[in-house]
Amino acid sequence: MSSPSELTARPGAPLRGVVVAPGDKSVSHRSLILGAMAQGVTEIEGLLEGDDILATARAAAAFGAAVERLGEGRWRVTGRGGLRTPEGVIDCGNAGTGVRLLMGAAAGYPLTAAFDGDASLRKRPMKRVTGPLAAMGARFDWTGQEDRLPATLSGGALNAIEHVQTVASAQIKSAILLAGLNAAGTTVVVEPEKSRDHTERMLRAFGAQVDVMEEGGGWRIALRGGQRLAGTVVAVPGDPSSAAFPLAAGLIVPGSQVTVRDVMLNPLRTGLFETWREMGADLAVSNVRESGGETVGDVTARHSTLKGVVVPPERAASMIDEYPILAATAAFAQGPTVMRGIGEMRVKESDRIALMAAGLAACGVRVEEEPEGFIVTGGPVRGGVRVTTHGDHRIAMSHLILGLAADQAVTVDEPGMIATSFPGFVELMRGLGADIG
Ligand code: S3P
Repeated sequence: MSSPSELTARPGAPLRGVVVAPGDKSVSHRSLILGAMAQGVTEIEGLLEGDDILATARAAAAFGAAVERLGEGRWRVTGRGGLRTPEGVIDCGNAGTGVRLLMGAAAGYPLTAAFDGDASLRKRPMKRVTGPLAAMGARFDWTGQEDRLPATLSGGALNAIEHVQTVASAQIKSAILLAGLNAAGTTVVVEPEKSRDHTERMLRAFGAQVDVMEEGGGWRIALRGGQRLAGTVVAVPGDPSSAAFPLAAGLIVPGSQVTVRDVMLNPLRTGLFETWREMGADLAVSNVRESGGETVGDVTARHSTLKGVVVPPERAASMIDEYPILAATAAFAQGPTVMRGIGEMRVKESDRIALMAAGLAACGVRVEEEPEGFIVTGGPVRGGVRVTTHGDHRIAMSHLILGLAADQAVTVDEPGMIATSFPGFVELMRGLGADIG
Protein backbone atom coordinates (compact mmCIF):
# COMPACT_ATOMS: atom_id res chain seq x y z
CA MET A 1 0.00 0.00 0.00
CA SER A 2 1.49 3.35 -0.93
CA SER A 3 1.26 6.11 1.68
CA PRO A 4 -0.52 9.36 0.80
CA SER A 5 1.65 12.23 -0.39
CA GLU A 6 0.01 14.71 1.96
CA LEU A 7 -2.27 14.91 4.96
CA THR A 8 -4.67 17.67 5.99
CA ALA A 9 -5.97 18.65 9.44
CA ARG A 10 -9.18 20.69 9.51
CA PRO A 11 -10.61 22.70 12.39
CA GLY A 12 -13.74 21.10 13.79
CA ALA A 13 -15.51 19.71 16.79
CA PRO A 14 -14.04 19.41 20.31
CA LEU A 15 -11.74 16.42 20.88
CA ARG A 16 -12.78 13.95 23.54
CA GLY A 17 -11.60 10.59 24.72
CA VAL A 18 -8.99 8.39 26.32
CA VAL A 19 -6.04 7.00 24.36
CA VAL A 20 -2.88 5.07 25.20
CA ALA A 21 0.53 6.58 24.44
CA PRO A 22 2.72 4.53 22.09
CA GLY A 23 5.84 3.00 23.60
CA ASP A 24 8.72 5.31 24.41
CA LYS A 25 11.19 5.63 21.55
CA SER A 26 14.28 6.07 23.77
CA VAL A 27 13.51 3.05 25.94
CA SER A 28 12.54 0.96 22.89
CA HIS A 29 15.90 1.54 21.14
CA ARG A 30 17.77 0.74 24.35
CA SER A 31 15.80 -2.42 25.09
CA LEU A 32 16.84 -3.92 21.73
CA ILE A 33 20.45 -2.75 21.90
CA LEU A 34 21.07 -3.81 25.52
CA GLY A 35 19.21 -7.06 24.81
CA ALA A 36 21.57 -7.77 21.91
CA MET A 37 24.67 -7.04 24.04
CA ALA A 38 23.43 -9.16 26.95
CA GLN A 39 23.75 -12.86 27.52
CA GLY A 40 20.38 -14.61 27.35
CA VAL A 41 16.76 -13.70 26.83
CA THR A 42 15.24 -10.22 27.07
CA GLU A 43 11.45 -10.09 26.94
CA ILE A 44 10.06 -6.70 25.86
CA GLU A 45 6.46 -5.54 26.36
CA GLY A 46 5.07 -2.40 24.74
CA LEU A 47 7.89 -1.88 22.25
CA LEU A 48 7.26 1.06 19.93
CA GLU A 49 6.85 -0.49 16.49
CA GLY A 50 7.85 2.68 14.66
CA ASP A 51 10.18 2.67 11.67
CA ASP A 52 13.13 3.98 13.73
CA ILE A 53 12.82 1.08 16.15
CA LEU A 54 12.28 -1.52 13.45
CA ALA A 55 15.60 -0.39 11.94
CA THR A 56 17.27 -0.94 15.32
CA ALA A 57 15.63 -4.37 15.62
CA ARG A 58 17.10 -5.33 12.23
CA ALA A 59 20.48 -3.99 13.35
CA ALA A 60 20.33 -6.03 16.58
CA ALA A 61 19.72 -9.15 14.49
CA ALA A 62 22.50 -8.26 12.05
CA PHE A 63 24.91 -7.92 15.00
CA GLY A 64 24.12 -11.52 15.95
CA ALA A 65 21.17 -11.50 18.36
CA ALA A 66 18.03 -13.57 17.73
CA VAL A 67 15.19 -11.05 17.47
CA GLU A 68 11.59 -12.33 17.40
CA ARG A 69 8.26 -10.51 17.30
CA LEU A 70 5.85 -12.48 19.49
CA GLY A 71 2.81 -10.21 19.14
CA GLU A 72 1.85 -6.54 19.14
CA GLY A 73 4.66 -4.75 21.01
CA ARG A 74 5.90 -8.08 22.40
CA TRP A 75 9.43 -8.91 21.34
CA ARG A 76 12.08 -11.37 22.46
CA VAL A 77 15.79 -10.68 22.00
CA THR A 78 18.25 -13.47 22.70
CA GLY A 79 21.70 -12.00 23.06
CA ARG A 80 24.99 -13.83 22.69
CA GLY A 81 26.77 -11.72 25.29
CA GLY A 82 28.44 -9.66 22.56
CA LEU A 83 28.09 -8.29 19.05
CA ARG A 84 29.72 -9.68 15.92
CA THR A 85 30.50 -8.35 12.43
CA PRO A 86 27.21 -7.90 10.59
CA GLU A 87 26.61 -8.87 7.00
CA GLY A 88 25.81 -5.84 4.85
CA VAL A 89 25.31 -2.24 5.89
CA ILE A 90 23.54 -1.28 9.14
CA ASP A 91 20.85 1.05 7.79
CA CYS A 92 19.46 3.09 10.68
CA GLY A 93 16.90 4.88 8.52
CA ASN A 94 15.89 8.20 10.11
CA ALA A 95 17.13 7.36 13.62
CA GLY A 96 19.90 9.42 15.21
CA THR A 97 19.44 7.59 18.50
CA GLY A 98 19.63 4.23 16.74
CA VAL A 99 22.88 4.88 14.90
CA ARG A 100 24.68 6.72 17.71
CA LEU A 101 23.84 4.16 20.40
CA LEU A 102 24.65 1.25 18.09
CA MET A 103 28.05 2.77 17.30
CA GLY A 104 28.80 2.95 21.02
CA ALA A 105 27.49 -0.55 21.67
CA ALA A 106 29.54 -2.06 18.84
CA ALA A 107 32.79 -0.13 19.42
CA GLY A 108 34.11 -2.44 22.12
CA TYR A 109 33.88 -5.66 20.12
CA PRO A 110 36.40 -6.93 17.53
CA LEU A 111 34.19 -6.28 14.52
CA THR A 112 33.74 -4.14 11.45
CA ALA A 113 30.40 -2.46 10.72
CA ALA A 114 29.29 0.00 8.05
CA PHE A 115 26.55 2.43 9.16
CA ASP A 116 24.22 4.46 6.96
CA GLY A 117 20.85 6.17 7.08
CA ASP A 118 18.31 8.15 5.08
CA ALA A 119 18.89 11.60 3.56
CA SER A 120 18.06 13.33 6.88
CA LEU A 121 20.37 11.12 8.96
CA ARG A 122 23.18 11.61 6.45
CA LYS A 123 23.05 15.35 7.21
CA ARG A 124 23.42 14.97 10.99
CA PRO A 125 26.71 15.33 12.90
CA MET A 126 28.31 12.06 13.99
CA LYS A 127 31.65 13.20 15.38
CA ARG A 128 30.03 14.21 18.67
CA VAL A 129 29.84 10.42 19.21
CA THR A 130 32.64 9.02 17.03
CA GLY A 131 35.13 11.55 18.52
CA PRO A 132 34.88 10.19 22.09
CA LEU A 133 34.66 6.60 20.78
CA ALA A 134 37.85 7.17 18.75
CA ALA A 135 39.50 8.57 21.90
CA MET A 136 38.65 5.22 23.54
CA GLY A 137 40.35 3.35 20.67
CA ALA A 138 37.68 2.71 18.01
CA ARG A 139 38.38 3.62 14.38
CA PHE A 140 35.95 5.32 12.01
CA ASP A 141 36.42 5.61 8.25
CA TRP A 142 34.20 8.09 6.46
CA THR A 143 33.00 7.14 2.99
CA GLY A 144 32.43 10.73 1.92
CA GLN A 145 32.45 13.79 4.16
CA GLU A 146 34.01 13.43 7.60
CA ASP A 147 31.44 13.70 10.42
CA ARG A 148 28.62 12.42 8.18
CA LEU A 149 27.28 8.96 7.34
CA PRO A 150 28.09 6.60 5.70
CA ALA A 151 30.89 5.52 8.04
CA THR A 152 32.61 2.27 8.89
CA LEU A 153 33.53 1.32 12.44
CA SER A 154 36.44 -0.95 13.33
CA GLY A 155 35.93 -1.90 16.96
CA GLY A 156 38.11 -3.74 19.44
CA ALA A 157 40.07 -3.17 22.63
CA LEU A 158 39.06 0.14 24.23
CA ASN A 159 40.39 2.24 27.06
CA ALA A 160 38.10 4.12 29.43
CA ILE A 161 37.90 7.90 29.12
CA GLU A 162 36.51 10.76 31.16
CA HIS A 163 34.23 12.80 28.94
CA VAL A 164 32.82 16.18 29.96
CA GLN A 165 29.69 16.94 27.95
CA THR A 166 29.58 20.23 26.10
CA VAL A 167 26.03 19.59 24.87
CA ALA A 168 23.45 17.99 27.17
CA SER A 169 22.98 14.92 24.97
CA ALA A 170 21.80 11.55 26.17
CA GLN A 171 22.83 10.06 22.85
CA ILE A 172 26.49 11.00 23.37
CA LYS A 173 26.42 9.92 27.03
CA SER A 174 24.78 6.61 26.14
CA ALA A 175 27.18 5.77 23.31
CA ILE A 176 30.16 6.34 25.63
CA LEU A 177 28.68 4.31 28.48
CA LEU A 178 27.79 1.40 26.20
CA ALA A 179 31.33 1.40 24.81
CA GLY A 180 32.61 1.69 28.38
CA LEU A 181 31.12 -1.69 29.23
CA ASN A 182 33.95 -3.24 27.21
CA ALA A 183 36.72 -0.75 27.99
CA ALA A 184 39.69 -1.22 30.30
CA GLY A 185 39.18 0.98 33.36
CA THR A 186 36.28 3.10 34.56
CA THR A 187 34.50 5.29 32.01
CA VAL A 188 33.20 8.59 33.33
CA VAL A 189 30.73 10.99 31.74
CA VAL A 190 30.28 14.37 33.40
CA GLU A 191 27.08 16.23 32.57
CA PRO A 192 26.95 19.88 33.66
CA GLU A 193 23.25 19.70 32.67
CA LYS A 194 21.40 16.45 33.17
CA SER A 195 20.10 14.59 30.12
CA ARG A 196 17.60 11.72 30.09
CA ASP A 197 18.88 8.82 32.18
CA HIS A 198 17.24 5.79 30.53
CA THR A 199 20.58 4.18 29.68
CA GLU A 200 21.77 4.37 33.29
CA ARG A 201 18.47 2.97 34.61
CA MET A 202 18.36 0.20 32.03
CA LEU A 203 22.02 -0.79 32.44
CA ARG A 204 21.19 -1.44 36.09
CA ALA A 205 18.15 -3.52 35.10
CA PHE A 206 20.47 -5.59 32.89
CA GLY A 207 22.72 -6.20 35.92
CA ALA A 208 25.46 -3.57 35.54
CA GLN A 209 26.63 -1.23 38.27
CA VAL A 210 26.43 2.45 37.35
CA ASP A 211 27.54 5.02 39.93
CA VAL A 212 26.00 8.46 39.76
CA MET A 213 27.13 11.42 41.87
CA GLU A 214 25.32 14.75 41.86
CA GLU A 215 27.72 17.52 40.84
CA GLY A 216 26.55 21.13 40.66
CA GLY A 217 23.29 21.12 38.72
CA GLY A 218 24.43 18.03 36.83
CA TRP A 219 25.99 14.70 37.61
CA ARG A 220 29.00 12.47 37.18
CA ILE A 221 28.32 8.97 35.88
CA ALA A 222 30.90 6.20 36.30
CA LEU A 223 30.85 2.72 34.80
CA ARG A 224 33.50 0.06 35.42
CA GLY A 225 34.59 -1.79 32.28
CA GLY A 226 34.33 -5.55 31.91
CA GLN A 227 30.80 -5.84 33.30
CA ARG A 228 28.53 -8.41 31.67
CA LEU A 229 24.86 -7.76 30.95
CA ALA A 230 22.21 -10.41 31.53
CA GLY A 231 18.89 -10.57 29.67
CA THR A 232 15.91 -9.20 31.58
CA VAL A 233 12.27 -8.14 31.24
CA VAL A 234 11.54 -4.63 29.91
CA ALA A 235 8.12 -2.98 30.18
CA VAL A 236 8.31 0.01 27.84
CA PRO A 237 6.40 3.01 29.26
CA GLY A 238 4.36 5.37 27.05
CA ASP A 239 6.30 8.09 25.26
CA PRO A 240 5.75 11.58 26.71
CA SER A 241 7.12 13.06 23.49
CA SER A 242 4.32 11.37 21.52
CA ALA A 243 1.65 11.94 24.19
CA ALA A 244 2.40 15.64 23.76
CA PHE A 245 0.53 15.76 20.42
CA PRO A 246 -2.96 14.60 21.48
CA LEU A 247 -2.55 16.54 24.74
CA ALA A 248 -1.66 19.70 22.82
CA ALA A 249 -4.81 19.25 20.74
CA GLY A 250 -6.79 18.94 23.98
CA LEU A 251 -5.35 22.26 25.17
CA ILE A 252 -5.96 24.31 22.01
CA VAL A 253 -9.19 22.95 20.47
CA PRO A 254 -12.11 24.66 22.26
CA GLY A 255 -14.29 22.37 24.35
CA SER A 256 -11.81 19.49 24.35
CA GLN A 257 -10.82 17.00 27.03
CA VAL A 258 -8.18 14.41 26.14
CA THR A 259 -6.63 11.78 28.39
CA VAL A 260 -3.46 9.91 27.46
CA ARG A 261 -2.81 6.83 29.60
CA ASP A 262 0.50 5.23 30.65
CA VAL A 263 2.70 8.27 30.00
CA MET A 264 6.26 8.08 31.33
CA LEU A 265 6.78 10.86 33.88
CA ASN A 266 10.57 10.70 34.25
CA PRO A 267 11.41 14.28 35.36
CA LEU A 268 14.13 14.46 32.68
CA ARG A 269 11.37 14.11 30.06
CA THR A 270 8.54 16.27 31.40
CA GLY A 271 9.82 19.80 30.81
CA LEU A 272 6.98 20.43 28.36
CA PHE A 273 4.30 19.61 30.94
CA GLU A 274 5.96 22.01 33.40
CA THR A 275 6.08 24.72 30.74
CA TRP A 276 2.45 24.21 29.73
CA ARG A 277 1.43 24.48 33.41
CA GLU A 278 3.30 27.80 33.64
CA MET A 279 1.33 28.89 30.57
CA GLY A 280 -1.89 28.19 32.47
CA ALA A 281 -2.70 24.79 30.97
CA ASP A 282 -5.30 22.63 32.68
CA LEU A 283 -3.25 19.42 32.89
CA ALA A 284 -4.11 16.76 35.45
CA VAL A 285 -2.04 13.70 36.26
CA SER A 286 -3.70 10.66 37.83
CA ASN A 287 -3.06 6.98 38.49
CA VAL A 288 0.65 7.60 39.10
CA ARG A 289 2.54 4.32 39.53
CA GLU A 290 5.90 2.63 39.01
CA SER A 291 6.34 0.44 35.97
CA GLY A 292 9.54 -1.02 34.56
CA GLY A 293 11.79 1.26 36.62
CA GLU A 294 9.99 4.45 35.54
CA THR A 295 7.11 6.50 36.98
CA VAL A 296 4.08 6.48 34.70
CA GLY A 297 0.66 8.10 34.92
CA ASP A 298 -2.42 9.18 33.01
CA VAL A 299 -2.42 12.79 31.80
CA THR A 300 -5.59 14.76 31.02
CA ALA A 301 -5.58 18.02 29.07
CA ARG A 302 -8.60 20.30 28.94
CA HIS A 303 -9.00 23.27 26.64
CA SER A 304 -7.22 26.17 28.33
CA THR A 305 -6.58 29.86 28.01
CA LEU A 306 -2.81 29.96 27.60
CA LYS A 307 -0.41 32.82 28.19
CA GLY A 308 3.09 33.19 26.77
CA VAL A 309 6.08 32.44 29.02
CA VAL A 310 9.86 32.55 28.96
CA VAL A 311 11.08 28.95 28.92
CA PRO A 312 14.21 28.62 31.08
CA PRO A 313 17.07 27.54 28.77
CA GLU A 314 18.28 25.05 31.41
CA ARG A 315 15.03 23.15 30.87
CA ALA A 316 15.91 22.47 27.23
CA ALA A 317 17.32 18.96 27.66
CA SER A 318 14.15 17.76 29.37
CA MET A 319 11.97 18.83 26.44
CA ILE A 320 14.28 19.11 23.44
CA ASP A 321 11.96 17.10 21.14
CA GLU A 322 8.91 19.02 22.38
CA TYR A 323 9.73 22.57 21.23
CA PRO A 324 7.93 22.11 17.88
CA ILE A 325 4.64 21.23 19.57
CA LEU A 326 5.25 23.86 22.27
CA ALA A 327 5.67 26.44 19.50
CA ALA A 328 2.38 25.27 17.94
CA THR A 329 0.52 25.71 21.24
CA ALA A 330 2.29 29.05 21.86
CA ALA A 331 0.61 30.32 18.70
CA PHE A 332 -2.70 30.16 20.61
CA ALA A 333 -1.37 31.82 23.80
CA GLN A 334 -1.70 35.46 24.79
CA GLY A 335 1.65 37.18 24.35
CA PRO A 336 5.11 35.95 23.44
CA THR A 337 6.64 32.59 24.34
CA VAL A 338 10.42 32.88 24.42
CA MET A 339 12.37 29.70 23.64
CA ARG A 340 16.16 30.13 23.83
CA GLY A 341 19.25 27.97 24.34
CA ILE A 342 17.94 25.40 21.89
CA GLY A 343 20.56 25.45 19.11
CA GLU A 344 20.46 21.62 19.24
CA MET A 345 17.06 21.81 17.53
CA ARG A 346 18.85 22.76 14.34
CA VAL A 347 20.61 19.36 14.14
CA LYS A 348 17.63 17.09 14.78
CA GLU A 349 15.77 15.23 12.00
CA SER A 350 15.57 18.67 10.35
CA ASP A 351 16.45 22.23 11.32
CA ARG A 352 13.42 22.41 13.56
CA ILE A 353 13.77 26.08 14.46
CA ALA A 354 13.77 27.09 10.79
CA LEU A 355 10.90 24.79 9.81
CA MET A 356 8.62 25.71 12.74
CA ALA A 357 9.34 29.40 12.18
CA ALA A 358 8.51 29.06 8.47
CA GLY A 359 5.37 26.98 9.05
CA LEU A 360 3.98 29.21 11.78
CA ALA A 361 4.74 32.38 9.81
CA ALA A 362 2.94 30.90 6.78
CA CYS A 363 -0.07 30.35 9.06
CA GLY A 364 -0.05 34.04 9.97
CA VAL A 365 1.68 33.69 13.36
CA ARG A 366 4.31 36.21 14.48
CA VAL A 367 7.68 34.46 14.89
CA GLU A 368 11.12 35.91 15.49
CA GLU A 369 13.89 33.46 14.66
CA GLU A 370 17.26 33.66 16.45
CA PRO A 371 20.42 31.60 15.93
CA GLU A 372 19.72 29.50 19.04
CA GLY A 373 16.01 29.93 19.56
CA PHE A 374 12.78 31.61 18.57
CA ILE A 375 9.96 33.70 19.97
CA VAL A 376 6.36 32.89 19.05
CA THR A 377 3.69 35.49 19.76
CA GLY A 378 0.14 34.20 19.97
CA GLY A 379 -2.67 35.70 17.93
CA PRO A 380 -5.04 34.66 15.15
CA VAL A 381 -3.81 31.46 13.46
CA ARG A 382 -5.02 31.67 9.90
CA GLY A 383 -3.84 28.34 8.53
CA GLY A 384 -4.84 27.59 4.95
CA VAL A 385 -1.33 26.47 3.96
CA ARG A 386 0.67 23.45 2.82
CA VAL A 387 3.76 23.01 4.98
CA THR A 388 7.08 21.48 3.90
CA THR A 389 8.28 19.11 6.61
CA HIS A 390 11.61 17.94 5.14
CA GLY A 391 10.55 14.45 6.21
CA ASP A 392 10.52 15.38 9.91
CA HIS A 393 7.84 13.49 11.85
CA ARG A 394 7.55 16.01 14.67
CA ILE A 395 7.30 18.97 12.28
CA ALA A 396 4.47 17.16 10.50
CA MET A 397 2.54 16.26 13.67
CA SER A 398 2.99 19.74 15.18
CA HIS A 399 1.47 21.42 12.13
CA LEU A 400 -1.40 18.93 11.94
CA ILE A 401 -2.29 19.64 15.58
CA LEU A 402 -2.07 23.37 14.82
CA GLY A 403 -4.49 22.86 11.92
CA LEU A 404 -7.12 21.39 14.26
CA ALA A 405 -7.45 24.76 16.00
CA ALA A 406 -6.58 27.17 13.15
CA ASP A 407 -9.13 29.21 11.16
CA GLN A 408 -8.48 27.08 8.07
CA ALA A 409 -7.01 23.67 7.32
CA VAL A 410 -3.26 22.90 7.41
CA THR A 411 -1.70 20.36 5.04
CA VAL A 412 1.68 18.65 5.47
CA ASP A 413 3.83 16.78 2.96
CA GLU A 414 5.59 13.44 3.53
CA PRO A 415 3.11 12.20 6.16
CA GLY A 416 4.56 8.68 5.90
CA MET A 417 7.47 9.85 8.08
CA ILE A 418 5.14 10.16 11.08
CA ALA A 419 5.47 6.38 11.42
CA THR A 420 9.11 6.74 12.47
CA SER A 421 7.99 7.63 16.00
CA PHE A 422 4.17 7.49 16.11
CA PRO A 423 2.61 4.77 13.94
CA GLY A 424 -1.15 5.05 14.24
CA PHE A 425 -1.05 8.79 14.95
CA VAL A 426 -3.77 9.63 12.43
CA GLU A 427 -6.11 6.85 13.60
CA LEU A 428 -5.55 7.80 17.25
CA MET A 429 -6.34 11.45 16.56
CA ARG A 430 -9.41 10.52 14.50
CA GLY A 431 -10.58 8.39 17.42
CA LEU A 432 -10.60 11.57 19.51
CA GLY A 433 -12.74 13.28 16.87
CA ALA A 434 -10.04 15.04 14.87
CA ASP A 435 -10.68 15.73 11.19
CA ILE A 436 -7.40 14.56 9.68
CA GLY A 437 -7.19 12.90 6.30
C1 S3P B 1 17.39 10.72 22.69
C2 S3P B 1 18.05 11.86 23.04
C3 S3P B 1 17.80 13.18 22.43
C4 S3P B 1 16.47 13.21 21.67
C5 S3P B 1 16.26 11.98 20.84
C6 S3P B 1 16.28 10.74 21.72
C7 S3P B 1 17.77 9.45 23.33
O1 S3P B 1 18.85 13.48 21.54
O2 S3P B 1 16.40 14.35 20.85
O3 S3P B 1 15.01 12.03 20.17
O4 S3P B 1 17.00 8.47 23.25
O5 S3P B 1 18.84 9.40 23.95
P1 S3P B 1 20.22 14.15 22.09
O6 S3P B 1 20.72 13.29 23.17
O7 S3P B 1 21.19 14.16 20.94
O8 S3P B 1 19.83 15.53 22.52
